[in-house]
Amino acid sequence: MIKSLRGMNDMFDSKKFQYFIKIASQIAKNYGYSYTQTPLLEESLLFKRSVGESSDIVGKEMYQFTDKGGHDVCLRPEGTAGIVRAFIQNKLDKAGGQYRFFYHGPMFRYERPQKGRLREFHQFGVESFGEINVYEDATIIMMVNDIFNKLGITFKLKLNSLGDKNCMPQYRKKLLLFLQNHIDEICDDCKRRKDTNPIRVLDCKSGNCQAIYVNAPKLINNLCFTCKDDFLKLQEILKVNDIDFEIDTHLVRGLDYYSKTAFEFVSDAIGTQSAIAGGGRYDRLVEFLDGKATAAVGFAIGIERILELIDIPQNNREGWYFGAMDDKFVSLIFSLTFKKRKTDKAIASLYPRNLKTHLRYADKQNVRYCAIIGENEFNKNQIWIKDMQEKTETNININKL
Ligand code: HAM
Repeated sequence: MIKSLRGMNDMFDSKKFQYFIKIASQIAKNYGYSYTQTPLLEESLLFKRSVGESSDIVGKEMYQFTDKGGHDVCLRPEGTAGIVRAFIQNKLDKAGGQYRFFYHGPMFRYERPQKGRLREFHQFGVESFGEINVYEDATIIMMVNDIFNKLGITFKLKLNSLGDKNCMPQYRKKLLLFLQNHIDEICDDCKRRKDTNPIRVLDCKSGNCQAIYVNAPKLINNLCFTCKDDFLKLQEILKVNDIDFEIDTHLVRGLDYYSKTAFEFVSDAIGTQSAIAGGGRYDRLVEFLDGKATAAVGFAIGIERILELIDIPQNNREGWYFGAMDDKFVSLIFSLTFKKRKTDKAIASLYPRNLKTHLRYADKQNVRYCAIIGENEFNKNQIWIKDMQEKTETNININKL
């Protein structure tokens, strides 16, 4: 028997998924974002230059291959780089102004599968271009907050600042000196990170390393004036708007493109893979990818992890189910369903069944109304309707349906 690949799941029951997409998309639209879509397959170079060669994502986890035309391509491991490429390719960087996009779709990372960690997973993300003001960072954090509140998800928000091109290089030097002084005590991975991207060491999972890094210099104590000012302002805006957060000086994110604001939303209800959303500012990425320098900030939510945390509300029923109790009414049911679909979701049951069975089927389809025709109803030119949510029943004239 051929089975799906490890870490890649079928999504047979997609009701929760669709419910999540509906809520998140609506909120993104309320914040002024419009839907966009980019290809699943991109040139590998795009991710090497954006997510970074030193990251685990590019270094170890890409689904990378040479296509029939000899091009080095890969399945996208994340959504930001593709959107930035499209932004530049469509010359929006040159046009100037503000652009806000949201997207959702599959991402691919060749990771070791475990609960909450897949090789094909789905993200819902937003990317905002052209707004340098730190109010925009606060806005997208508030958007995630709104999405999670609407879904009834409790979370912790972790916040850090990764500095910019003025303060980061100086901090890097200090950190390197610290690492050099502890070189015999840190793990082999950290020794490697020291040479590729030293700030990654702060994220090391080894308890031994973490105990050493407690005394490492902190980036937030080494921020330049602008970064410090923005970081304080961001905290102030969040406080004024009742968004709880904690500062995590070791939050570095697994992608290289961030500067200044970095954040992660975590849940303590889904096990070790607790990050349910992550994001931050990436003011230099457009330029890195050969575009005109443009400020940018965004986030992505891991949809599979969210589905573990939500239940669809009981009043989520929508649309109609039409059924006949005798074969001779099936064609009428078929036509009524066809008409109803002009304005609503409608499902036709194409075989005659008794009322109880129809109601059971309608319930399974999660419809709001179950409409049935039998001999009695037909003789009066009526249709029997049950509101599956309010549990009320009524007969109405077929022409009024
Ligand atoms: P990320 O932190 O790599 O950020 O991924 C965002 C979210 O995707 C994570 O918080 C997690 O919920 C989910 N996720 C990541 N890997 C897996 C996996 N293997 N299995 C299941 N879920 C996973 C980004 O991807 C950035 N592009 C976010 C961003 C957008 N930054 C700025 N704009």
